[in-house]
Parts: sequence; structure tokens; C-alpha cells
Amino acid sequence: MTTTETEQTEAAATAAASGNAATAAFAQKNRAGADSSQERVDTLAGELIAAVHDVIRKHKVTYSEYDALKGWLIQVGQDGEWPLFLDVWIEHAVEEVANETREGSKGTIEGPYYVPGSPRLPAEATLPKREDEAGTPLLFQGQVTDVDGTPLPGATIEMWHADNDGLYSQYAPGQPEWNLRGTVVTDDHGNFKIHTIEPAPYQIPTDGSCGKLIAAAGWHAWRPAHLHLKVNAVGHQLITTQLYFKGDNHIADDIASAVKPELVLDPTPAATGREVTYNFVLDKA
Ligand code: DHB
Ligand code: FE
Repeated sequence: MTTTETEQTEAAATAAASGNAATAAFAQKNRAGADSSQERVDTLAGELIAAVHDVIRKHKVTYSEYDALKGWLIQVGQDGEWPLFLDVWIEHAVEEVANETREGSKGTIEGPYYVPGSPRLPAEATLPKREDEAGTPLLFQGQVTDVDGTPLPGATIEMWHADNDGLYSQYAPGQPEWNLRGTVVTDDHGNFKIHTIEPAPYQIPTDGSCGKLIAAAGWHAWRPAHLHLKVNAVGHQLITTQLYFKGDNHIADDIASAVKPELVLDPTPAATGREVTYNFVLDKA
């Protein structure tokens, strides 16, 4: 992407717009089920605060740095960027703990741009897209099985991904509501064939407070191009994952630390565009 293209993309999709949309979407999420016993809160909040104290003492943090932090934290909230901040820098550790005993397919972070209830589609389907949707056509196909190899008919594969500009429908202007989002149901043999386009690498918004942190620290804002997926079947555990593309410049330095070797696809040339097979293995519930 050239600098001019980057600037144009940012002008169209502001951090405040995508941040506030992600914050509003999170407010709708069912969040019942957290263990909020006094003992648990005491342990987690207490140790988190103590960890911050350790950093302050170790690096002799000054009052002006403390004030810069306060101002920045306030700004993250005003920009609606807490979902972005947490999903980029914190979620991968939560995912690691949540899935450490799984035997089936690897998971990774959900990120801030999932929307439940995407259109239900048959086992062979094209994701909703614009007539002139830019990007290399991609055929993504495979089978969903149990850990013992039993095919899982009627399994659901929810897929959502960015467009050829690295932007997500419902979080950036100009895309139809369910663009590049769908829920595919596997056939009698657990098979699926999804036609879509390859997403572009994604840059987390650089014009808000997360962008400010990235610039101040001299980091970069890129995630490798990725497909997001949630795969589920009755009697099995839902897996939330992402798949990446071999050769992407940011496979090794994803800002969200969400890449795993098992999640990197190597598509081959097809009649139109590229194609790849990837099978999902679900743990029993
Ligand atoms: C963010 C965006 C993503 O598309 C993703 O997968 C993870 C994080 C973000 O902007 O925070
Ligand atoms: Fe994403």
C-alpha cells in the first residue's frame, strides 16, 4: 500500500468511528458467567495493581509520565478504543489460557469486529459481497470433524473478514451490512466450500489513542491479512480462530500476537484466483 492509499483509507474510516462502533457492539454482548466472587476479584485486581507498581518502581516512573498515562487512558475511552486496545494487546493471553487443553483445531483471538447473526448459507456458498468487490477470488473448502474423525453434518462455520482495503462491514462506511460475513452450514459429510475474496492486511486505526501509543513507542500497526472463523456443532465446543496467508509481510510480527504456525494457509492457483483446503476438528463439549 502506498502512503497516499493509506491516508485515503484512514480518511474514510476514522478510529473514532470504528472504535465507537466496536464499543457499542460490545455493550450488546451477553457477559453473564464471570466468576465475580470477592476472593477472585481481590486476587486478580490486587495482583494487576501490584504488577503496575512493579513497573513504576523498576523504571522510576515520573509524575509527568504518570499524568501522560492518565490523559491517554481517558482518551482511549473517549475514542471508544477500549475494545481495540484489549483485543490487540491483551486478548491473546486470555485465548491461550482458555484453549490450553483443546485437542482439536487451534483457536486464536476473536478481535473487535465479530457480529452475530450473519446470513445462513448452504454448504457451498459465496459470502455476501458487492458486485464489483475488489480482491483475488478465494475458494476456502474443507471438512468439519470430531476429534475421533467422525464428520459433522450441520456444523456451522461463521466467517467474517476485511475487504481488499482492510476494512470490515458495519465498522467502516461504504459496505453493505453483511458484506463478507456469512454462516455456512456443512453438508451430510461435514464438507463446506466457501467462495470469497482474499482480505488485505489490516492496519489497526492509527488516528486514535491506540495509534498514538504505537507512534510514541515506535511500533507498527499491522496485522497480517486474515479470515475470522467461529466453527461449532451440536455436542461440541465452539472454536474461534483466524487463518492467515503464507508469505504475508506481518506473519512474524502481528501487532495482536495472534498468529500460530497451524493457522497459516498456503493457497494454490485455481481457475479463478486461489484455493485452499483447511479442515476443522472440534473437541467434544
Ligand atoms: C483488531 C482488529 C482485527 O481485525 C483483529 O482481528 C484483531 C484486533 C483491532 O483493531 O483491535
Ligand atoms: Fe480482524
